[in-house]
Amino acid sequence: MENKIQALNDKIALAKLGGGEKRIATQHSKKKLTARERVEYLLDEGSFEETGMLVTHRTTDFGMDKETYYGDGVITGYGTINGRAVCIFAQDFTVFGGALSETHAEKICKVMDMAIKTGVPMIGLNDSGGARIQEGVRSLGGYADIFFRNVQSSGVIPQISAIMGPCAGGAVYSPAMTDFTMMVENTSYMFVTGPNVVKTVTNETVTSEELGGASTHSTKSGVAHITSANDVQCLEDIKSLLSYLPQNNRETTPKLEVDFKDEIRESLIGIIPENANKPYDMHKVIQGIIDEDSFYEIHKDFAENIIVGFARLGGRSIGIVANQPQHLAGVLDVNSSVKAARFTRFCDCFNIPLLVLVDVPGFLPGTNQEWNGIIVHGAKLLYALSEATVPRITVITRKAYGGAYDVMNSKHIGADMNFAWPSAEIAVMGAKGASEIIFKKEISEAPDPAAKLLEKEAEYAEKFANPYRAAQRGFIDEVILPEETRRKLLKAFSMLENKVVEAPKRKHGNIPL
Ligand code: COA
Repeated sequence: MENKIQALNDKIALAKLGGGEKRIATQHSKKKLTARERVEYLLDEGSFEETGMLVTHRTTDFGMDKETYYGDGVITGYGTINGRAVCIFAQDFTVFGGALSETHAEKICKVMDMAIKTGVPMIGLNDSGGARIQEGVRSLGGYADIFFRNVQSSGVIPQISAIMGPCAGGAVYSPAMTDFTMMVENTSYMFVTGPNVVKTVTNETVTSEELGGASTHSTKSGVAHITSANDVQCLEDIKSLLSYLPQNNRETTPKLEVDFKDEIRESLIGIIPENANKPYDMHKVIQGIIDEDSFYEIHKDFAENIIVGFARLGGRSIGIVANQPQHLAGVLDVNSSVKAARFTRFCDCFNIPLLVLVDVPGFLPGTNQEWNGIIVHGAKLLYALSEATVPRITVITRKAYGGAYDVMNSKHIGADMNFAWPSAEIAVMGAKGASEIIFKKEISEAPDPAAKLLEKEAEYAEKFANPYRAAQRGFIDEVILPEETRRKLLKAFSMLENKVVEAPKRKHGNIPL
């Protein structure tokens, strides 16, 4: 028996060595942790249970039968993060560059199946040279098996992908279908085709970092939701993100205990400038409403004219969508609409109530926007908010103009509670633009057209640049003082906690993609 136990221990020791000490040293020299170190760091101490540790590949081509490694380049299993169960896979770059074989894919699929059956979040730590080249189409089949499960899991369990090394070709589509893609700065990249193929096909010269590094995907493409300075920070970011999420679509996020004191927030007084054309930072409004230091921003550097992220209000997890007047005056455009629509849908899938803060002058005009389909992309946000059945509350801080008023969680598209600050301007458009159109003749015929325009502008502003017309109609439930906002929201979200909406039966809607 002793021999048998020794044999088992030897196998385990070998499995834990992955591709061997030399390759582990190379991994460390690139400032990357190994797959095993990542899993150990991310999960609660001693909680990790590994599955398929002794799996090896079945390939015999190219002398591969003489080169096998236990685990076959991916570590899979389950454990806990802050006491809550998760399933996880971590690709091991020290074994065939983490390349995906048939058996490697089978291991990932097994753990994904377990996550969906048991209703726990699925976390993938990606670090891979892509399809295992020696296996050909079997490897491609393996990817498709994973993609299929990503889609089956979508909206059932949260799926998080961290890109902690290469992720190229077909490999990119699994992260793309998960809920959140995190990237480590300078050591990770994602692209469909690498710099060499790009050079051949388009004659562009570009580095891997420029083409698909963390900075590119967090600012230009929006593929990355979060970027982190290094592996450890990335793993910490995953832990923080999970704290805002429920385990699955049948649960809500656990509520933290909070001591309520005076919920009046004087920091909110005076944030809105006297001049309606002056920008201000909507982050300040968010900070003035939520529990201290609880904002977890998503897509921080992408489409900055809209802010999205998770926060806590009275210990409860909420999702925030907020126009940012400090960037492009908070206008809605293609990228900001898509960013906010996707976030809204995530929150709705996972029972996270939505708070929408509005200061929007409308949609961004121009050929660039029109030719890139702002009509369809703007419709995504309108659709996403209209279909969301989670508690939805709106606060209009300043402008809510035109179609963008409708889109930004107006009463008409199903918001549960709509508040406005006294500084709100709910109108078809700004006073100047409106006066130029409706008083065009009067202005042009006046002895001093500029003075006439100012006069008419003031007249229009007096009539419409306020929240009261909307309040008279019941489109606004209450006009509130800024400093009361937190208190009002605490009460309203609490009242809406058990909201139930029965949607009409259908296979699924047809969101304008
Ligand atoms: N299939 C099989 N083995 C692979 C592999 C793949 N797709 N990608 C990398 N490897 C192996 C390498 O042969 C090497 O093996 P070794 O440790 O026995 O020498 C090991 O993984 C590390 O790769 P290496 O090229 O030395 O690392 P690197 O950091 O210099 O480069 C990549 C990493 C990913 C850029 C590079 O390996 C690469 O371009 N791989 C191929 C990517 C690809 O085209 N994939 C298929 C399409 S999806």
